[in-house]
Amino acid sequence: MQRNLLDLRTLGKAEIELALNTAEACKQLFDRPVRKVPTLRGKVLVNLFYEPSTRTRTSFEMAGKWLSAEVVSITAAQSSVVKGESIKDTARTIQALGADYVVIRHSSPGVPYLLARTINARIINAGDGTHEHPTQGLLDMFTIKERFGRLAGLRVLIVGDILHSRVAHSNIWGLRTMGAEVAVCGPPTLLPSGLAELGVDVYTNLDEAIQGVNVINVLRIQRERQNSVYFPSLREYSRLYGITRAVLDRVGPDVLLMHPGPANLGVEITEEAAEDERSVVHGQVTNGVAVRMAVLYLLGGGEHDALVD
Ligand code: CP
Repeated sequence: MQRNLLDLRTLGKAEIELALNTAEACKQLFDRPVRKVPTLRGKVLVNLFYEPSTRTRTSFEMAGKWLSAEVVSITAAQSSVVKGESIKDTARTIQALGADYVVIRHSSPGVPYLLARTINARIINAGDGTHEHPTQGLLDMFTIKERFGRLAGLRVLIVGDILHSRVAHSNIWGLRTMGAEVAVCGPPTLLPSGLAELGVDVYTNLDEAIQGVNVINVLRIQRERQNSVYFPSLREYSRLYGITRAVLDRVGPDVLLMHPGPANLGVEITEEAAEDERSVVHGQVTNGVAVRMAVLYLLGGGEHDALVD
């Protein structure tokens, strides 16, 4: 495993396989009466979040605690950032306090790379602007593999705001590396150029896009990142691209429905679809803890076989 986890673009197949297999071992701990293992005892994990988060921050906290690390969470609004401290200064301060791992979420693409060049702690990208969200990509792949037993040869459709989605980018890199077919669907204004060069099939019509898919991964409409109007109205977006139970029924009983969350229920996905038996949106959140445990463990130099006795 690399020293830091900054993206899935530069991760090879063997590294992704190692992370997914290790996450499987971590998930075995969930059934034990005591989930804690001493693996990261004495290590310090700092969650440094400049953007809101429920799932990622909480699951990194739980992952660190279950591996016996000391876990500290800092949000920008309650830190010296509001007094004008730079990101580099904050990072150096955290290092001086003894951080071994820094999990960073920031609205600017590239900030995790800046931290990796600035301090010695292991850096994990928890989402950098519209660029990547590698642990979300890993947990999505873990969830798909858990259901189908493989990734290679499956057809995964990602629906929605691909342009602004770090989740889409990490999924595309990871799934393509693992041999899955990837298709995307959304309004033309929310589809970046260059997707075909990555081997991604591009659709603007949902009925055409859902043909033959094994997985539908629905993305949130990211209104906070949209500086201009990308489609006429949310109502029209829902009508053309919203995932409903009727859409799932058109695909069939075996399709896996995913959403990284947080969801705009009633916009990109109906509550009925999100709670349908084909949906694994809650399972994705649970799997996030296992995957983040695996990442922390592997970045610390752990070997897969030694994690669970
Ligand atoms: N999927 C995801 O990153 O969710 P949060 O913003 O709640 O962390």
